[in-house]
Amino acid sequence: MDTNHMNTKIEKLDKRLELAYAGGGQKRVDKQHAKKKLTARERIDYLLDEGSFEEMGVMVTHRTTDFGMDKEIYFGDGVVTGYGTIYGRLVYVFAQDFTVFGGSLSETHAEKICKIMDQAIKVGAPCIGLNDSGGARIQEGVKSLGGYADIFHRNVQASGVIPQLSAIMGPCAGGAVYSPAITDFTIMVEDSSYMFVTGPNVVKTVTNEEVTAEELGGASTHSTKSGVTHVTSANDIQCLEDVKKLLSYMPQSNRETPKKMPYTIGDELREHLIDIVPEDNHKPYDMHDVIKGIIDEDSFFEIHKDFAENIIVGFARLAGRSIGIVANQPLQLAGCLDVKSSIKGARFTRFCDSFNIPLLVLVDVPGFLPGTDQEWNGIITNGAKLLYALSEATVPKITIITRKAYGGAYDVMNSKHIGADLNYAWPTAEIAVMGAKGAAEIIFRREIANAENPEEKLKEKETEYANMFADPYRAARRGFIDEVIYPKNTRRKLIKAFQMLEGKEVNKPKRKHGNIPL
Ligand code: HXC
Repeated sequence: MDTNHMNTKIEKLDKRLELAYAGGGQKRVDKQHAKKKLTARERIDYLLDEGSFEEMGVMVTHRTTDFGMDKEIYFGDGVVTGYGTIYGRLVYVFAQDFTVFGGSLSETHAEKICKIMDQAIKVGAPCIGLNDSGGARIQEGVKSLGGYADIFHRNVQASGVIPQLSAIMGPCAGGAVYSPAITDFTIMVEDSSYMFVTGPNVVKTVTNEEVTAEELGGASTHSTKSGVTHVTSANDIQCLEDVKKLLSYMPQSNRETPKKMPYTIGDELREHLIDIVPEDNHKPYDMHDVIKGIIDEDSFFEIHKDFAENIIVGFARLAGRSIGIVANQPLQLAGCLDVKSSIKGARFTRFCDSFNIPLLVLVDVPGFLPGTDQEWNGIITNGAKLLYALSEATVPKITIITRKAYGGAYDVMNSKHIGADLNYAWPTAEIAVMGAKGAAEIIFRREIANAENPEEKLKEKETEYANMFADPYRAARRGFIDEVIYPKNTRRKLIKAFQMLEGKEVNKPKRKHGNIPL
């Protein structure tokens, strides 16, 4: 071929690429930066290993002619899509470009996202969405709505097949919120992102409530009140770092197990674990200290840190192996299970089970939270979610009871009866139908009422009941507890046990899918 001819063609390509890379133009890029937001391309650059990004669909343009749109053409149509690597692992990514039509979703914009999702599912690699969009492309009407539904449908097909992560790095409103909601994890940037089905103006018109966008659907709201977001990040950079870190605990797809980090087994005894559980069993302590005492240093990545704090969930590493932790938190509501904590625990458990991440369950639970608020909000159905999820999970499952395991909550929190592989208890464990005081009040009611000093009698009976039941030995005698262990040995035991369980396989009866109580 004539070199001049080729050079002319290459110039044309260069020009088009230059236009594509310019997004909506410098003015709009400056506006984006002024809001302390990176552009779509800057985000992708930061997220992926240097030089690893391969773009797909850079020349795509919208097909709308209404409202003079045929004169407003931007290559890429408001979304940058493609694949690359994070720490050497293949990922697919889309980043909405707010500088082009406010990142709004057109038919072609949606097609680009669907294309990489389809490929991610076929290849078996995670899909990461960096959302920053004014929602449906208003000039396109139903074509845009159809595009959203095409994405939602793929989110559902990909669920449990490849990890799907959504970073919310700007507006995300209307039905657009349902894609992140279906994905596995949502990470919101503080102060510059929001998610709501209807914005403050519609809220004011319909309900007469005055509310700001931040109050209605900012990161702080969704991390504390609704639980819609799993993680919040201080800024764009932190958000992208969080995406990378979160991904490191996961396998590429449900066909794999998570990659093990190199680890040399050393002195695994943790003497200080003996000091955590207080002598007085009414006194709270921080279950984070137990977690810290068990896992590899600095390896805990907490999910839903500020939501339903009576249960702790998150990823960690144990001798370099990725595990999921579900733990009661005695510091909040005495560690009781309630509606929100049950949902939080169940969703996390199901993620771990889908992606072959073994589960460690730490138990100190006095029961389900009583009261009309809980009953009227369906603690029965919602509590059953956690029971269902833990029971259904076939990954290696290990339980450690540090103190209380009372009533139905004993069964729910990964008991032997619902399929846990190994159940350990610390010597401080109390496994009983209920607390000693409540039990004594019921079974010795008459004796206490007829006593000369009922209060003294109650104390006496409480002690009698506690001496008989408030320990792990009755459960251990029946084999419901495999071993009562020294706290300092916990880490060593767990490392060996998870290693032993690596080859676990469970064959389940054929069915389309179970019917978890939603
Ligand atoms: C087309 C849009 C757009 C949209 C923003 N733009 N949203 N273009 N369709 N949905 C364009 C603007 O015209 C503007 O173009 C540029 O993007 C930046 O917008 P600004 O308003 O200047 O930015 P800002 O002040 O930061 O405000 C951002 C915003 C606001 C809050 C997102 O743009 C906004 O309210 N947009 C409309 C949101 C909306 O109602 N979307 C439809 C929701 S319903 P120029 O040329 O000036 O740069 C929905 C249904 C989905 O999404 C259902 C799925 C099932």
